[in-house]
Amino acid sequence: MRVAMIGTGYVGLVSGACFADFGHHVTCVDKDKTKIEALKRGDMPIFEPGLAELVELNFREGRLSFATELAEPVRNADAIFIAVGTPSRRGDGHADLTYVYTAAHEVADQLDGFTVIVTKSTVPVGTGDEVERIIRATRPDADIAVVSNPEFLREGAAIRDFKHPDRIVIGTEDPRAKEIMTALYRPLYLNAAPILYTGRRTAELIKYAANAFLATKVTFINEIAELCEKIGADVQEVARGIGLDNRIGTKFLHAGPGFGGSCFPKDAQALIKTAQDHAAPLRIVEAVVAVNDVRKRAMARKVAAALGGNLRDRTIALLGLTFKPGTDDMREAPSIALVTALRDMGAKVRAYDPAGMEQAKMVLGNDVVYCDGPYACAEGADALVIVTEWEQFRALDLGRLKTLMARPVLIDLRNIYRPDEMAAYGFIYDSIGRPGPENDRRRTTEEA
Ligand SMILES: NC(=O)c1ccc[n+]([C@@H]2O[C@H](COP(=O)([O-])OP(=O)(O)OC[C@H]3O[C@@H](n4cnc5c(N)ncnc54)[C@H](O)[C@@H]3O)[C@@H](O)[C@H]2O)c1
Repeated sequence: MRVAMIGTGYVGLVSGACFADFGHHVTCVDKDKTKIEALKRGDMPIFEPGLAELVELNFREGRLSFATELAEPVRNADAIFIAVGTPSRRGDGHADLTYVYTAAHEVADQLDGFTVIVTKSTVPVGTGDEVERIIRATRPDADIAVVSNPEFLREGAAIRDFKHPDRIVIGTEDPRAKEIMTALYRPLYLNAAPILYTGRRTAELIKYAANAFLATKVTFINEIAELCEKIGADVQEVARGIGLDNRIGTKFLHAGPGFGGSCFPKDAQALIKTAQDHAAPLRIVEAVVAVNDVRKRAMARKVAAALGGNLRDRTIALLGLTFKPGTDDMREAPSIALVTALRDMGAKVRAYDPAGMEQAKMVLGNDVVYCDGPYACAEGADALVIVTEWEQFRALDLGRLKTLMARPVLIDLRNIYRPDEMAAYGFIYDSIGRPGPENDRRRTTEEA
């Protein structure tokens, strides 16, 4: 099969490289010339484990190529994937579909022969209808089928997720399109990944419903963590206690500083808007978004509380800035709200992230002093905050940290250390939803 991938970002590049690895011929197209030139040189524009090797192999073997112009790849393609960004529209939170519709216009001009146009971007219900309308308006003669094929990969585990998906969702009623999509995903199908054929609108909604549900799960356990702190219970034990129930499941029950990332915040928001427009409001999702927004900023108050309530001229060291480990993606990372709130309270902020420093600088600018490693970051700090649970932060030399810091205060927003271990090292330690001296102190003060 010949594939044109329009948009070579986190989703387009990973999907393109994986399809090429299955044996298809893929051209990844992007308007960003710097990105395409870097890829042709073998430089990765994003950090994603295993991606450089996969791209290099398939590029060398001639199955994967890169282009800035879509004319030729589109003309030759059996399937064209639209994998461009769908950010939140400024002002109202609807998905901004400008990039998708622009791509549809550009593709339409070049179509030749029967072609399947696949929306892989996360798009609101009805977007496929509009993509089809645009193409048919531009090229009434075109022989096309427009399919929805949402992507569920997670950054940091993207290749594994693409190659071993829990399911593949294909939204189309067109038998010829079904045949091409089945052929494209055949290697996965042979590995028994379930393929779900649905209507196009249903497929579009499945993606949003999945993300909104996961965001709800995270927010639910975050609120339970808050309650745990008030009543002296342990959220990790609660999560295990409920998660072992198969109807609930253990995943996405890790309490933390609130969800962020390139998908959950914007997708939850866009789903809320779609539902409101159709007079079927999703009150639960609305509450999830509101709770999460407040929570991210509230983490700064947790830091302040551990330092006696005042952060003026205190130095706070942050370990981890990206929204999760294994990626350099800073979109909507909880660290952004945390840094802003800490700065508002008068604190000086230092930070280190293993992969996200370049992206972080673009978002946080001079609000943060960027350091070379975790120990350099901790030097002279009044408190150390673990914001992202990178593997390399899981076994820090606690004795060394303590001698480097101005005060031995550690706030663990990912619960990667144990309160008793930290107490043994002489740290004032606070975490999320777990008993410990800091939470006990706060609780007794509040109860008094
Ligand atoms: N990032 C994820 O983990 C993830 C997971 C599942 C689904 N999604 C969805 O996939 C879509 C893409 O997300 P992403 O994170 O890969 O975005 P991204 O911003 O990393 O990449 C989008 C790319 O599209 C390019 N582009 C825009 N318009 C173009 C055009 N007309 N022609 C060629 N290139 C064009 C941009 O230059 C950019 O490189 C979004 O809808 C997102 O919601 C993302």
